[in-house]
Amino acid sequence: MPGRARVFVPRETSAVSLGADEVAAEIYGAALVRQRDIELTRNGSWGMSWLEPLVEVIVDGQRIAYGPVGTGDVAGLFEAGFLSGGDHPLRLGRTLDIPYLRNQDRWTFRRCGLIDPLSLDEYRAHGGLRGLEAAFRLGAAGVLEELHASGLRGRGGAAFPTGVKWQTVADAVADRKYIACNADEGDSGTFSDRMLMEGDPFTLIEGMLIAGYAVGASRGYVYLRSEYPLARSIFAKALAAARAGGWLGSDIQGSGLDFDIELHLGAGSYVCGEETAMLESLEGKAGLIRYKPPLPAHEGLFGKPTVVNNVITLASVPEILARGGEAYAALGTGRSKGTLAFQLAGNIRRGGLVEKAFGVTLRELIEDWGGGTFSGRALRAVQIGGPLGSYFPAQLLDTPLDYEALAELGGLIGHGGIVVFDDRVDMAQQARFAMEFCAIESCGKCTPCRIGSVRGVEVIDRIIAGENRAANLSLLQELCDTMVDGSLCAMGGMTPFPVQSALKHFPMDFEQSSLVQRSTGASK
Ligand SMILES: Cc1cc2nc3c(=O)[nH]c(=O)nc-3n(C[C@H](O)[C@H](O)[C@H](O)COP(=O)(O)O)c2cc1C
Ligand code: SF4
Repeated sequence: MPGRARVFVPRETSAVSLGADEVAAEIYGAALVRQRDIELTRNGSWGMSWLEPLVEVIVDGQRIAYGPVGTGDVAGLFEAGFLSGGDHPLRLGRTLDIPYLRNQDRWTFRRCGLIDPLSLDEYRAHGGLRGLEAAFRLGAAGVLEELHASGLRGRGGAAFPTGVKWQTVADAVADRKYIACNADEGDSGTFSDRMLMEGDPFTLIEGMLIAGYAVGASRGYVYLRSEYPLARSIFAKALAAARAGGWLGSDIQGSGLDFDIELHLGAGSYVCGEETAMLESLEGKAGLIRYKPPLPAHEGLFGKPTVVNNVITLASVPEILARGGEAYAALGTGRSKGTLAFQLAGNIRRGGLVEKAFGVTLRELIEDWGGGTFSGRALRAVQIGGPLGSYFPAQLLDTPLDYEALAELGGLIGHGGIVVFDDRVDMAQQARFAMEFCAIESCGKCTPCRIGSVRGVEVIDRIIAGENRAANLSLLQELCDTMVDGSLCAMGGMTPFPVQSALKHFPMDFEQSSLVQRSTGASK
C-alpha cells in the first residue's frame, strides 16, 4: 500500500476562476474511490497564471507539477500514477525547474505557491518571522538603518523612499501613530497585492509588525478593494491565526510590542487608492483627496502620524531585515534597488507574475516570460503602470525597466502592471478611454480634473470625427498641460500621460483616413 501523498491545488483567485475548486474536489473524490491516502493542501499561486490550475505532488522531497489541469484530466492523472510523479501529457517536471519560475529573483514572493498560506508552522519553517526577530534584535533605530541601506522605494506607484517615510513617522511626537496598508490595487493589469495576500498573508502581517515596531505604532489597518473576496477571507483567517499564535495583540512574544491589525473594505472607487482619499475612506468619510501638506506621515489617519505603504512595499521588508539591507540593494540598477513583481496581462500568451530585479527589459519580460501576444499577431503597444501610465510602441521594447529610465521616456512603472496590445488596437480609442476613465473616477474636488476630463473626451471625439483637427489637437495639448499643472492629485495630473503618449507614438491613429482604414481592416 503506497504511503500518504501530499497534493497541492491553489486556492487563489485566477486558479479558482479556472476551476481549481472543482479540480481539488475531483482529486479528493478520486483518491477516496481508489483508496489512496492523500493530504490535499490549498496553496497560493506561483504566479504562472497560464498554467492554472497547476496541480503539484511531492515526490522524493521534490514538487512535481502538472498543468493546466481540468476536472476531466483527473482520472487520467491517477491512471498515470501522478501521485508518484508518473508520466502524463500535462506533466511539467519539477516546479522550480519551470523556466518562468527558475529565472526569477524571488524575494517578496519567495514563499508564494510554496506553502499552505494559513499554516504558521510552514511559514516559520520557510524563513517566516526571521525578519521580525531580527528587528527585535536590532531595535527600532537599527530597523530604520537597514531600510535606508536597502534603498526600498514604495511599490504603490510614487516610488517614495520607504526609509525616509518611516523615519518621518518615527521622529514625529504623538500619542498615537498608525500603519495603513494600501491594498486597493486599482491599476489595470495588476494583481500582485492580491496574489501575496492570498498566497503568503503572514509576510504582509510581519511587514506591518516591523513597521509598527520601527515607528512606534500599535495599530495597523489594511484597506482592501472589495473586488477581492477570496483575498479578504484568506487574510481575515491569517489575522485570526496570527492572533491565536501570539503574533498580534499585546506584548508580542514577550517583546513589549503591542500591535494589532484591522481589515477594511473599499467600495470600488479608483481614487480611494490615493493615500489621502484612502485615509478619508478609512475614517468613514467619502473618498475625497485631502490637500497636502500636511503629509500623512505628519497628520494621517485620525490626524495622527501614519505610515501609508503598499502591500508589496510592506511585504518586502521582512526579508530585508532577515538578510540585511545591503543584500536587497545589491539587486537592481542605479536608484532602483531590489526587485519588482511585474505583472504580465492583456494580450499575452503566458500571463502571470514575474518577480525580477530592476533593469530587466520590457522585451525580456514580454517575449521570454510572456511568450509574445496571445493572438500571435504583432505587438503594437504596451501600457505600463496602470491607467495613468504611458503607452509605448514596439520600438521601445528594449527599455530597461527602472524608475529613472521610464521617467526619461515620459512614463512610469507604477505598481508594475504591463498590459500588452496587438496590432488591432486603436490608440485614439485608448486615449479617449484614458480621459473617460478619469471623468468617471474623478473625485471632483478640483476643476482641471473634474471638468477637464469631460472636455477631454469631447475634444478627442471631435478629433476622431475629423472635425477641425488641427485646432482640436492644439486644444487637447493645452488641456493636457492644464491638467498636469493644475490638478490637485496624480489622478488628473497624470491622465494626460496615456493621452499624450498615444499622440506622440501613434499619431497616425488620430488621422481620419487611418481610422477608416483600421475600422474596415484595409491596413492589414
Ligand atoms: C489615483 C491614484 C490611485 C492610487 N491607487 C493606489 C493603489 O491602488 N494602491 C497603492 O498602493 N497605491 C496607490 N496609489 C499611490 C498612493 O497614493 C501612495 O503613494 C501609496 O499607497 C504609498 O505607498 P508606497 O510608498 O508603499 O508606494 C494611488 C495614487 C493615485 C494618485
Ligand atoms: S485631480 Fe481629480 S481625483 Fe485628484 S483631487 Fe482633483 S478632482 Fe479629485
